[in-house]
Amino acid sequence: MSMHGRGGPMGAMSRDARAQREQNASAPVIPHLFRRVAELFRPFRAPLIITGVLVISSAALTVIPPLLIEVAFNQGLFPKTGGPNMSLLVTMVVLMIAIWIVSAGLGVGQTYLTQTVGNKVMGALRVRLFSHLQAMELAFFTRTKTGIIQSRLQNDVGGVAGVLSNTVSTVLGNTVTVLAAFVAMLILSWQLTLVAVIMLPLMVIAQRKVGQVRARIATKTQESLSEMTAITQEALSVSGIMLAKSFSQQGAEVARYDKENKVQIGLQVRQAMSGQWFFAMVQVFLSSIPAVIYLVAGFLITGGVNVTIGTIVAFTTVQARLLFPLMNVMQVGLDLQTSQALFARIFQYLDLMPAITDAPDAVRVDAAKLGKVEFDDVTFRYPGSGEAESPTLSNISLAIEPGQFVAFVGPSGSGKTTLSYLVPRFFDVASGHVRFAGTDVRELTAESLLANIGIVSQETYLFHATIAENLRYAKPDASQAELERVAKAASIHDTIASFPQGYHTLVGERGYRLSGGEKQRVAIARVLLKDPSVLILDEATSSLDTVSERVVQKTLDKAARNRTTITIAHRLSTVVNADIIFVIDAGRVVERGTHAVLMKKKGLYAKLVAEQDDLRQAR
Ligand SMILES: Nc1ncnc2c1ncn2[C@@H]1O[C@H](COP(=O)(O)OP(=O)(O)O)[C@@H](O)[C@H]1O
Ligand SMILES: [Mg+2]
Repeated sequence: MSMHGRGGPMGAMSRDARAQREQNASAPVIPHLFRRVAELFRPFRAPLIITGVLVISSAALTVIPPLLIEVAFNQGLFPKTGGPNMSLLVTMVVLMIAIWIVSAGLGVGQTYLTQTVGNKVMGALRVRLFSHLQAMELAFFTRTKTGIIQSRLQNDVGGVAGVLSNTVSTVLGNTVTVLAAFVAMLILSWQLTLVAVIMLPLMVIAQRKVGQVRARIATKTQESLSEMTAITQEALSVSGIMLAKSFSQQGAEVARYDKENKVQIGLQVRQAMSGQWFFAMVQVFLSSIPAVIYLVAGFLITGGVNVTIGTIVAFTTVQARLLFPLMNVMQVGLDLQTSQALFARIFQYLDLMPAITDAPDAVRVDAAKLGKVEFDDVTFRYPGSGEAESPTLSNISLAIEPGQFVAFVGPSGSGKTTLSYLVPRFFDVASGHVRFAGTDVRELTAESLLANIGIVSQETYLFHATIAENLRYAKPDASQAELERVAKAASIHDTIASFPQGYHTLVGERGYRLSGGEKQRVAIARVLLKDPSVLILDEATSSLDTVSERVVQKTLDKAARNRTTITIAHRLSTVVNADIIFVIDAGRVVERGTHAVLMKKKGLYAKLVAEQDDLRQAR
C-alpha cells in the first residue's frame, strides 16, 4: 500500500481512500511473516537456547517414569515368582518422584526465561512501532483516526504478547513431551500405539480449518476493537465531551459506542466458541482411548500376543499424559494462526514508508544564512487529492530576508496555513523549491531544520503536565530563571506566579484549565525558550478576546524582534507594520508590498481592510 500521495496519477484519491479502508478492514498479507516474527527473537538467542535445553531435558525426563512404571509393576509389585520385590519397588518409586521434582524445577526456570524473553520482545516491538509512527509524515496522521493508530499499538501488540511469551515454551515443551510419550509408547507396545494415534491426522486437518476461521474472526475483532478505541478517544476527550454536551448528543455517542460494543461482544463470543466443538471431540477421543486400549489388549492376548499388566498400566499412564500436551500444542497452533493476523497488522504499520524522510546526503542548516526563507515557483497539492483538482498552492514565489517581519493575509481557505507548513517540510511540494537558509528543505536534515523553526498556531497544544514541564519541552535543561525570563517576555509570569503551585501547576489535557489567552501565552513562552531563527505565527491571536489579544500581540511583537517572523494574520490591524505583506488568494500570491503600498493599490488587501473596518464600526 502506498503512503505516498506526492504526484499521484489520476484517481489517486479513490485509491488512497480505498487503501485507508483496507488498512483496517482485513488481515493484510505480509510476505515472510513467520521469518519476520522469528527475527524479533534474534537478540535473545542465548536465553532461548537455554530455554530450549531446559524444555527438551524436562520433557525427555517424562519418558522415563512410564518405563519405570512397567518395571515397578512387572518386577516390583507382581514378579513372576514370589511376593513383591520391595527394595526394587522403593527404588523405582524414589526415582519416579525425584524425576518429577527435577522436571518441575526445570519448568519454573523455563517459565521465567520464556516470560522474560516474550515480554522483552513485545516491549521492543511496541517501542519500534511507536518510534516508527513518530517518523511518519503529518499527512499520515491527518488521514488516519488517532484511535485506530493507538489500537494497533495497544490492542494488536498486546494481543500477540501472550503468544510471544507462551508459544516458544509451549510448542517446544509439549512437542517434546508428545514425542517422548510417543517413543515411550512405542517401546511399551507398537500395536497399542497404533490404536492410540490412528485418529491423529484427522485432528490435524480439523485443527487447520478451525485455525483459519479463528484468524478471520481475530482480524474482525481487532478491527472492531480499534473502532471502539477510536470512538472512546474521540468522544471522551475534553473537546469531544464538550461537543457532545453542547449538542445534547451524549445519547447518540452512547448509542454509537453501544453498537460497536455489541459487535465486539458477538465477535468475542464467536472467537471463544470457534473450535470448542473441535476441542470437545478431541477430548472425548483422547479420554476414550484407555477404554479402547483394554479392549484391544484383550484381543491381542487372545491372539497370543504377550501383553503384561505392567505394559497396560504404563501405556495408559503415558497416553493420559499425552492428552494435556497434545491439547496444548493444538491450542497454541490455533493461537499462532490467530496471532498471525495480529502480527500482520503490526508489520503492516512497520512497513509504512514515511513519505518524508531525510535524503541520504542531507546536510545541516547553513548557520551563516539563518533566517532566509524562499519559495521558488512552488506548487502544492495535499496528498490524496487528484491531479485533476486545482492545486492548493500554485506557482508561489517569494523571498523573506533574515530578520524581516512578513505577513500572509487572505481569505480563509486561501492556503496561508498550508504555505507555512511547507517551511518546516511537514509536506513536500509537488514542484518548485522551498529553501531554508539558502538550501532546499528536502536537502536538509529534519532535525536541524526543525531546530530553527518555532511555530505558534491558533490551536495551541499543551501536555497534561505542569506548566514548567510544558515549557521545558522546548529546552529540557532550561533553568527556573530561564523559564521565568521567557514567561515574563510572554506576559504570563504574573499569572503563573499567582497560582498556588506556580510553575508546578498541572494543566489539563491540551491546556484546559488555562484560558485561551493564558494558554496562548504559555505557548509563546515555550517557543521563546526554543529561540528559533524563524518564527511562524498562524493566527496566534485570532481565538482571543480583544483584551488578551492586545496583551498577546504585544508579546508577539517583542518575540518577533531579532528573528525572521512569518505571521498569518486574521486581524489586519496586527500587520500594519510588516516589512512585506503577501496577499494570498486561492493558492496564489496576488499582491505584495507594505501596508501603505497595498492600500494605495486598492486591490484585494484594501478590500479586506475595508471590510474589517466596517465590522469594527458596526460593533
Ligand atoms: N490536510 C489537508 N488535506 C487536504 N486538504 C486540506 C488539508 N488541509 C487544508 N486543506 C485545504 O487546503 C486549502 C487551504 O487551506 P489552509 O491552508 O488551511 O487555508 P488558510 O490557512 O488560508 O485558511 C483549503 O481548501 C483546505 O480545505
Ligand atoms: Mg489557516
